Amino acid sequence: MSFSRRILSVQPSPTLALNAKAVQLAKQGHKVLNFAVGEPDYPTPKVVVDRAIESLKAGRTKYTPAGGSPELRQAIVDKLQRDNGLSFDTSQIVVGTGAKEILFHTFLSLLNDGDEVILTTPCWVSYADQIRAAGGIPVMIPVTSHGRIPSTEEIAKYSSPRTKAFVFNSPNNPAGYILTESEMKELGGFLAKQGWWVISDEIYEYMSFDHPHQSLLKVCPELKSKFILVNGLSKAFAMTGWRVGYCAAPQEVANMVKSLQSHSSTCIPGFIEDAAVVALKHGKPLMADDVARLRQRRDMATKLLDSLGGIKYFFPQGAYYIFVDIRDNLRGGDTSLNFSERLLQEHHLALAPGEAFGAPGFLRLSYATDEDTITEGIKRLHKALVG
Ligand SMILES: Cc1ncc(COP(=O)(O)O)c(C=O)c1O
Repeated sequence: MSFSRRILSVQPSPTLALNAKAVQLAKQGHKVLNFAVGEPDYPTPKVVVDRAIESLKAGRTKYTPAGGSPELRQAIVDKLQRDNGLSFDTSQIVVGTGAKEILFHTFLSLLNDGDEVILTTPCWVSYADQIRAAGGIPVMIPVTSHGRIPSTEEIAKYSSPRTKAFVFNSPNNPAGYILTESEMKELGGFLAKQGWWVISDEIYEYMSFDHPHQSLLKVCPELKSKFILVNGLSKAFAMTGWRVGYCAAPQEVANMVKSLQSHSSTCIPGFIEDAAVVALKHGKPLMADDVARLRQRRDMATKLLDSLGGIKYFFPQGAYYIFVDIRDNLRGGDTSLNFSERLLQEHHLALAPGEAFGAPGFLRLSYATDEDTITEGIKRLHKALVG
């Protein structure tokens, strides 16, 4: 029997697997503190939910156009102009079932067998497997000492004549960094010279705590003809289960991504489109209290880590994760993957292992949870790591 080589090279999402184990332990009656999930703990805003209900009742339950209704694509164009100072035509916008599907279709549209895509680690769990499934090769640059993006000289060392694209994710999951304008200028200038496709995943845009998010495209407009901006409503509006993501891309890429969608999920439901329009029109102010609370939790969690001592991490400026460096704490050939399994079994603490982000020796802690859980969880982690 033979199977697809491409798909055999794909591993199931390790963060989802860990989450499933944590849920299982909780069902058996254990008090599991779950820091593995990548979603906000607060609900989707009521205005958005109400609009979906109203729309359902009005019968918006049939297929919608592949790539999104004209109203939703217009709302995205308006959002990109308002929040990011970027101008796109509605024909350049494609809406799909989550940024995950949009990214997958983007890799499928761009890559031929053996094409290389540069990923700087730590990076979001699905990029590498999506690239492999599309026939490409993920080229992963190891974590830097500062946990931020490597220098352009370092990136150049990992390039080859087969390099086709570069994935950029700021605010970053899992390291929480946000590039400064001057870092973006340097990176963007370098990328423009290479002529690679740049896939900019801006899904944590609204979770920028210390200074407002800027799109790399705004800072480096010279990237436009090769720039695919990916975003979605999952994180911004606590809408992970609604599955709304989109890209704004050069016309040929948008056409290909849309064509693939027309042969896969087809569309997102009409009542969800209507609700998404409401969310996008309200924008960031709708979530101001939630984002302020996340920032307080970031401050609280990092202060606690500092006061307990003995645990290294990269200070996060955005998203809602702390990437903990446990390389000095691991003993006798232990790995962060084994360690995360033991944390779950023995301490009932779920943290995603760095292996999931191309960064063995680390653990990702999501602080999108209540303060008591954060406090108890960090104390348990400290006990397990430092003693
Ligand atoms: C960096 C990053 N990109 C994309 C996604 C996918 O988001 P969704 O498919 O929910 O829109 C996630 C979700 O965890 C993420 O963390």
